[in-house]
Amino acid sequence: MSKIIAVTSGKGGTGKSTISACLGYALAKQGARTLIIELDFGLRCMDIMLGISGRVEKDLGDVLKGDCEAYDAAIDVKLATNLSVLCAPSDPFVQLKVEDIEKIAADMRKYFEYVIIDTSSGINGSVFDIVTNSDLILVVTSIDPTSIRDARMMSDEFYKRSNKKQRLIINKASKKVFDNDDIDDLDMIIDAVGVQLIGVVPEDPEIPMSTGKGAALASSTQAFAAFSNIARRVKGDSIPIEIKA
Ligand SMILES: Nc1ncnc2c1ncn2[C@@H]1O[C@H](COP(=O)(O)OP(=O)(O)O)[C@@H](O)[C@H]1O
Ligand SMILES: [Mg+2]
Repeated sequence: MSKIIAVTSGKGGTGKSTISACLGYALAKQGARTLIIELDFGLRCMDIMLGISGRVEKDLGDVLKGDCEAYDAAIDVKLATNLSVLCAPSDPFVQLKVEDIEKIAADMRKYFEYVIIDTSSGINGSVFDIVTNSDLILVVTSIDPTSIRDARMMSDEFYKRSNKKQRLIINKASKKVFDNDDIDDLDMIIDAVGVQLIGVVPEDPEIPMSTGKGAALASSTQAFAAFSNIARRVKGDSIPIEIKA
């Protein structure tokens, strides 16, 4: 059974694209055929993050215009066999229709075990519906109070529309929080958002350094371990959440 996973947050800059790329990489490395669909129209970044910037010949815009099939526009990422990406249109004015995106994602179930949808931030009508209808919603927050409050608002809306398959990723956790000195802070965030935790990713300069040059995260980093564990939990493995590395 394939799974459509939407990565979302209330606030911008919480790390949705980073998480989509690194989770996609981790799932693919663990052997699952994975596609990332980038929905942040006009703000394409997945090509840089995954090291394919010179190779984007077709994108989601071409698929929406009917110029090519989604599968043909998906680019194989060299960093990991099993990982492909359908890049956002570089044109920010391409019309996004919920039904079109949902059909593309549903069609891709034939080829991929996981279809990760990297969304834009906030409650934007069309994207909101796409997220609500996915199989799993990953709500991303940083440890910043405004990000936490916005995550709560988004999550409440999904629950109202009866999507209960939500999991929380706390991203950019400071060293103090990540190293378990401050587990109360994590509990406070989980309570404030009201969504079950699936993983905590540390704030780590290695992440922008790797994604900025389209390279894989070093397997020795805490961040790599965090994404590998999130991937395994997404696949249904029961792995306790140990914050300390
Ligand atoms: N865990 C992290 N540690 C350090 N920097 C991060 C982390 N996650 C994301 N970033 C950085 O934060 C910025 C915003 O991340 P991005 O993934 O583009 O957010 P979004 O897609 O939610 O707007 C980027 O510069 C990214 O490299
Ligand atoms: Mg983004």
